[in-house]
Amino acid sequence: MTEHQIGVLGGDGIGPEVVRTALAVLDVAEVMYGFKTKRVDFPFGAEHYLKTGETMPDSAIEEIKDLRAVLFGAIGDPRIETGKLEFAIIAGMRFKLDLYVNLRPVKLYHEQFCPLKGKTPKDINFIVVRENTEDAYCGIHGFFKKGTQDEVATQTMLYTRRGTERVIRYAFDLCRKRNVKKQLTRVDKANALRAQDIWTRTFEEVAKEYPDIKTDHGYVDATCMWFVKQPEHYDTVVAPNLFGDIITDLAAELIGGMGLAASGNIHPGKVSMFEPIHGSAPKYANQNKANPLATILALAMLLEHLGESKAAVAVEEAVGRCLTGGKVKSLAAGVHKTDELGAMVIAELKSRK
Ligand code: IPM
Ligand code: MN
Repeated sequence: MTEHQIGVLGGDGIGPEVVRTALAVLDVAEVMYGFKTKRVDFPFGAEHYLKTGETMPDSAIEEIKDLRAVLFGAIGDPRIETGKLEFAIIAGMRFKLDLYVNLRPVKLYHEQFCPLKGKTPKDINFIVVRENTEDAYCGIHGFFKKGTQDEVATQTMLYTRRGTERVIRYAFDLCRKRNVKKQLTRVDKANALRAQDIWTRTFEEVAKEYPDIKTDHGYVDATCMWFVKQPEHYDTVVAPNLFGDIITDLAAELIGGMGLAASGNIHPGKVSMFEPIHGSAPKYANQNKANPLATILALAMLLEHLGESKAAVAVEEAVGRCLTGGKVKSLAAGVHKTDELGAMVIAELKSRK
């Protein structure tokens, strides 16, 4: 029987409880679909940092390189300086493991969860490919005359030809594989940020290799408007890191919010990391209130990455049936208990094969 080695990093706030709930779903999927996982726990996050002064050491990154995937919860704690742990742990994994694709599906399961009037599941089913290792996230920033009236602050947005090309190519391949509308939308702000002209040119060059894919373009501001106005227009979307971050929070709201938004930080063929898009929500921590469905959907993406496609589809469909069958009344924290939602998904998973 195949045994996959996976890392588990619950992190802060609601992270550990949503991850624990997803792992209970994994336990059932393993028995049903005939595979095993060996799970390696990582303690990183606010508590660990406060106790030891360690954020995420390179030795842990090395250990993760020998695994197939990591299931990650959330990082962020009000007791710690803004961005410190996020940068060391989330960005740390993305950059040091070179997880250059951040894949964020936007799929509406039931119209009840969509805030837009008259939109149904057939209108909202697209996927955003967010570049994940460049742009304003490289950490190249500085302050001059900090704290004075003359202060200057800078942050560099950085794009490489190699980094741009590989993620655009991934998006074209994915669009072809999805085989929905065969339409790939490039999002940028190349009219104002002239450095993003590298996106325009690289996209146009790569597009020549995919004559079967229709290409499309939107500036990021207009895309925010069109996501709300006409979400049915979209199939596959590719965006630079920072804009990809922003538009996927907006897109998450179209399908019911952060309770359902999952993501994969992927380097094809190498260890990759899967997480809900939401944060650590400290106010809901340890009360059995957090919605674990986004983490369970991230687990489904992780299973796909492991090559356990049948289990991946089964987990995703089980979540889907919980949402379409009327059992889930609301996706907001506290309406259903964390373990209650986990049990609902498990019951649906077991009900079919
Ligand atoms: C996300 C988050 C992170 C990001 C933060 C926590 C650094 O918002 O995964 O979307 O900006 O990428
Ligand atoms: Mn974000």
